[in-house]
Formats: sequence, C-alpha cells, structure tokens
Amino acid sequence: MTSRKLDDLLARNRTWAASIKAEDPEFFTKLSSQQTPRYLWIGCSDSRVPCTQLVDLLPGDMFVHRNVANMVIHTDFNCLSVMQYAIEVLKVEHIIICGHYGCGGILAALRNMHFGLIDNWLRHIHDIINAYDIYLTGFEDENSRLQALCELNVLQQVFNVCQNSLVHQAWAKGQQLTVHGWIYGVEDGLLRDLEVTLSSVQELADARRRLAEKTGLRALDCRGDSP
Ligand code: CO
Repeated sequence: MTSRKLDDLLARNRTWAASIKAEDPEFFTKLSSQQTPRYLWIGCSDSRVPCTQLVDLLPGDMFVHRNVANMVIHTDFNCLSVMQYAIEVLKVEHIIICGHYGCGGILAALRNMHFGLIDNWLRHIHDIINAYDIYLTGFEDENSRLQALCELNVLQQVFNVCQNSLVHQAWAKGQQLTVHGWIYGVEDGLLRDLEVTLSSVQELADARRRLAEKTGLRALDCRGDSP
C-alpha cells in the first residue's frame, strides 16, 4: 500500500541531515543565521536537472529559480523578484542560465503539441523558433533541431537577463556580476559552457552580434541592447 504521508521521504531527510551534521556538527546552526550564496541558478523544472546536486554544492551556496524550459520573461514578476533579491540584497556574483538537452517543454513547442495552460508559457519558445526559423530548418533531423533549439533558448534567456534593468543598474554601479549560459546533458550528467559569459553591456552587444551572424537572424531582431 502506498503511504499517504510520504514517510519514506521524511526518513531520507533525517538520514541526510544526520550525515551532514556528522561531517560538520555546526553546519545547520551556522546557516540558520544567514545565507551568502555566490550564485543564482535559473534552470528548468525537469526532475533530471537537480541544480545543487549536479554542481556538488551544499545548502547555502546557490539561490535558485526554476520553471519550465528555464525562461526569463521580461514581465514574469516571480523570476524578476528572485533576480532582484539575488542581485540587490544577496549580491550574487554569478547568474547561471542552465538549459538541458532533450527539454520536454521545448520539444512540445517544436512539435506544436498542446497540453493546456502551459501552451501559453511555451509561446515564448515559439517566438524563438520563429525568430531563428532559417537557422533551425537547416538541421535535417528533429533531434539535432531540438538540441540546437535548447542551446538557442539558453542564449536567448542569457540575453533576456542581461537586458533586464536590474542587471543594467548593477553593471552601471560597478557591481561585479557575470551572466553565464550553460547546458546540461541528461544522458551523461555533464554541463557544457555555451561560451556566453557576459559582464557588461558591450559584451552583451558583441554576443548578440555573434549569434545573429551565426544564425542569420534578421537584423530587426537583434537591434537595441538597452532595456
Ligand atoms: Co526542460
């Protein structure tokens, strides 16, 4: 019979907490007074991409926001609030946008599948498909197109982060803040750096130009770098 109370998870938690305390008896006491994470992770909700686990960090090391297809939408106050607190209060030094290959949300958009409310959220992926249609149709099979789109989505979200007023203000004040684009392979457990590591408006403009050149993005779509 299945347990209604999830006793198994609670038992696993007790074992986990005890193992950490065995290593460092003061670990939780020290953490209870403050958090000073250096990283903000923005990733997909996918159960196969457990952010702190896959970079082997402990509680207290990373501030986290996850949603379907790791998107940073300009008017999403949930994500913006996380970013604001991370940048202005916690003063994280790095924002990592991490996508993953084989993302189900991105595949649903690519195949134009319908699941209800979430279709509206995934419209943002459709926008990316439309903007990069020439580049994406150059891939012969669906799997390579999906992987390319998963990477493009990370780059687009890195740009969305960098175009945000919070990031611009931090950079204008001289605050040390670097935005990274990574992608994770569910099939091998490894992270890849997509080589978009941006710490200034100029680096953002250069990265956007490089992507536009690589993908044949219409000039209209890469104009303007300020929010
Ligand atoms: Co996903």
